[in-house]
Amino acid sequence: MKVAIIGFGSVGQGVAESIQNKDLGIMITGIADSKSGVIAGSGIPVGEVLAKKQSQGVCGDTDVSAWDVVKSADYDVLVECTPTDITTGKPALEYIRYAINRGRHVVTSNKGPVALAYKTLITEAGEQGVCLRYEATVCGAIPIIHTIQEGLAGNDILKIYGIFNGTCNYILTRMAEDGLTYEQALLEARELGYAEADPTYDVKGIDAAIKLVILANTVWGLDKSIDDVEITGIDNLTPEALQLAEKHGRTIRLIGEIDPAKGTLRVSPRIIPQEHPLVVDGTLNAVLLEADMADGITMIGRGAGSIETASAIIGDLIFIRDRYVKAA
Ligand SMILES: NC(=O)c1ccc[n+]([C@@H]2O[C@H](COP(=O)([O-])OP(=O)(O)OC[C@H]3O[C@@H](n4cnc5c(N)ncnc54)[C@H](OP(=O)(O)O)[C@@H]3O)[C@@H](O)[C@H]2O)c1
Repeated sequence: MKVAIIGFGSVGQGVAESIQNKDLGIMITGIADSKSGVIAGSGIPVGEVLAKKQSQGVCGDTDVSAWDVVKSADYDVLVECTPTDITTGKPALEYIRYAINRGRHVVTSNKGPVALAYKTLITEAGEQGVCLRYEATVCGAIPIIHTIQEGLAGNDILKIYGIFNGTCNYILTRMAEDGLTYEQALLEARELGYAEADPTYDVKGIDAAIKLVILANTVWGLDKSIDDVEITGIDNLTPEALQLAEKHGRTIRLIGEIDPAKGTLRVSPRIIPQEHPLVVDGTLNAVLLEADMADGITMIGRGAGSIETASAIIGDLIFIRDRYVKAA
């Protein structure tokens, strides 16, 4: 199976490295970043491209653009890993739609296009007989979409709630453990590379809300958008509030919750018992599913990271390889 990777940062490089290091029957025929690209129908020497990206900041030839790779490289699956834009979805949305309408499968780690245009993308993919997979968009390495769609096939999913943002979880853990103020914990998260220079999307609950939208539309076929989510962030929480909760055997976590019966999506700081399965430390994510047959299932894992996110993308690629490409 041939793949082209668009976006060669942390996630794109993790995917390339994983494909190089494992015998997956996958060959990379195109790679692009924001300034350059490389196309080779017989397979790209991944080690050389990774070394070039590290030493020169570009993955390929500056005469080759990402659009050249999307439009003309020979691939079965486009792996899309460019930055998220939750207002327009661009440029990812355009790359993805082009690939789908070229009759190619798509795997993406990018929340923007999936949250903004899920119905359009799924419809177009259906019309073209191709697959769109996006496991990495929700909770990084935790295979929540695979678990629901394959492992729990036949179950009615009654509720999903969890910790969908590792940055907020880290900040809350540090405020509870050592009595840091929100500002101190955020600064520490930034220094450790857990928080973006502009942490607004994380701390205001928007990142978690986008993930709820993706899950709601995927699992229940709803047509939700970010405007349908009731959102409260963690940026007004005081250490005193956390200490008071701790004194009573409780703690505070930023919980995202979908209740399909009520049709509600909510992200907010919630007081929960310290022994609750969703109380995980540091940057971990945790999701609790309630299903009619399986009952409760809790999954805990890494919500971000180069190889951790690549794990979700590789799972999607193997799904496509086995069900679509091998059979073709
Ligand atoms: N990092 C994680 O742990 C993680 C986890 C889950 C999901 N995600 C999502 O995965 C995506 C990639 O994340 P990342 O951490 O790998 O980001 P990143 O390190 O910033 O890499 C983004 C890559 O996209 C390239 N790019 C930017 N604009 C482009 C354009 N117009 N056309 C083609 N390429 C373009 C960049 O090029 P240059 O190299 O030239 O700047 C860079 O190679 C994001 O949507 C993110 O939200 C990330």
